[in-house]
Amino acid sequence: MTKAKLVFDPFSEDFFNGAYETYRRMRDEAPVYYSEEYDFYALTRHEDVAPAFKDFETYSSAYGVDLSMVKAGGVPEGQKSIIFMDPPQHRQMRSLLNKVFTPRAIEAQKPMVIAKVQKYLSRVDPEGFDAVQEFTAPFPVEVITTMLGVPEEHAQQVRLWIDESLHREIGQVDNSEKAMQINIETGMFYYDLVQKRRAEPKDDLFSKLIAAEVEREDGTKAKLDDIDIAGFATLLGAAGAETVTKLVGNAVYMFAKHPDQWQKLLDDRSKIPGAVEELLRYEPPAQYNVRRSMRDVHLHGTTIPEGKPVFLIGGSANRDHLAWTDADKFDIDRDRTEAQNLGLGYGIHSCLGAALARMESAIALEKLLDFMPRYEVDFEGCQRVHMQNVVGWQNVPVKVLR
Ligand code: HEM
Repeated sequence: MTKAKLVFDPFSEDFFNGAYETYRRMRDEAPVYYSEEYDFYALTRHEDVAPAFKDFETYSSAYGVDLSMVKAGGVPEGQKSIIFMDPPQHRQMRSLLNKVFTPRAIEAQKPMVIAKVQKYLSRVDPEGFDAVQEFTAPFPVEVITTMLGVPEEHAQQVRLWIDESLHREIGQVDNSEKAMQINIETGMFYYDLVQKRRAEPKDDLFSKLIAAEVEREDGTKAKLDDIDIAGFATLLGAAGAETVTKLVGNAVYMFAKHPDQWQKLLDDRSKIPGAVEELLRYEPPAQYNVRRSMRDVHLHGTTIPEGKPVFLIGGSANRDHLAWTDADKFDIDRDRTEAQNLGLGYGIHSCLGAALARMESAIALEKLLDFMPRYEVDFEGCQRVHMQNVVGWQNVPVKVLR
């Protein structure tokens, strides 16, 4: 029997549903995969993806980190953001943000995170609710917008904007007209808030970013301008809300599939951080990040020419059986030192919000364990999102069992 042609399409049902079987074939049959349809390359083996994330000289972020931007030759005007920077610019911006995102500053948010988690969990009907729509979607966006200093009544609007801008129909590479309009509106919304904070500072991220200074290579200092801050706020909204939503939504789904693992958490809450790491490994909400090749790369007998989009697929590397024992097994007790988990990225762009992401997810799991020690999911009713680079559930219908 001849095998079906190996095709990885990041804008297909296969990707939206978690393309783990396709990734396995890519690792085995085409470790440097080339997409004829979209003209991009993809790395899938852990031994290739992890070093590529670190090698920013070869794999640049400065032309964008999704296919649409890299193909278009760069980031659209006005969408300045740390995630689209290479050193030295990236180093300057990251060191500034590290001063604002200190472990202490994140720890100080804990009571607020608990309050947001409880606010939404206390509203759901145990007899039947949608774990994503009613719980995992609304709380993370409120956490990040509260930290930023966005008035609470606008938080859910921000989420709907992000959903729209990440949404993709099958085969759709670029943002829709509507999404582009929304991106402009989002930028203007934040720009306006920055102006307000300049006039009247508060104890929030906007005010801290206004006060912070970047140190340039020559030692001189500069402040962030309003467009820098609005761009960063847009990124935080997307990076900080969508991903936690997907991780916790997936937790509800995965633990219903693996009740023995849920029982382990019920028996021993100290396993929660390990469970968060396993969720990040098993199905990372951000499946891949795109880079632009800055030179010809020779790897596994293939040449990636300079100037091409290259997908670094962490979602595949995290399931690579050469890196992990029983890579396809969901096991909250697994040996986490076996390989680098790429769920929160790696190298200079590794997730700035990692501590916050871990804290939010751990608190959500803790409260879910209290709220629904036994529960069932209507698997037939579960629906996946259709998004660029993000995988996860749109709906996970749950009933709490007595
Ligand atoms: C489960 C939740 C999360 C996941 C899976 C996740 C994943 C990632 C990944 C894979 C990257 C690397 C992007 C790249 O290499 O191009 C990244 C970067 C980033 N994340 Fe997260 N993230 C999460 C939560 C958060 C939160 C809560 C925040 C907000 C505070 C945040 C803010 C950022 C920022 C600002 C960057 C860019 C860092 C840089 O370019 O130096 N993320 N994240």
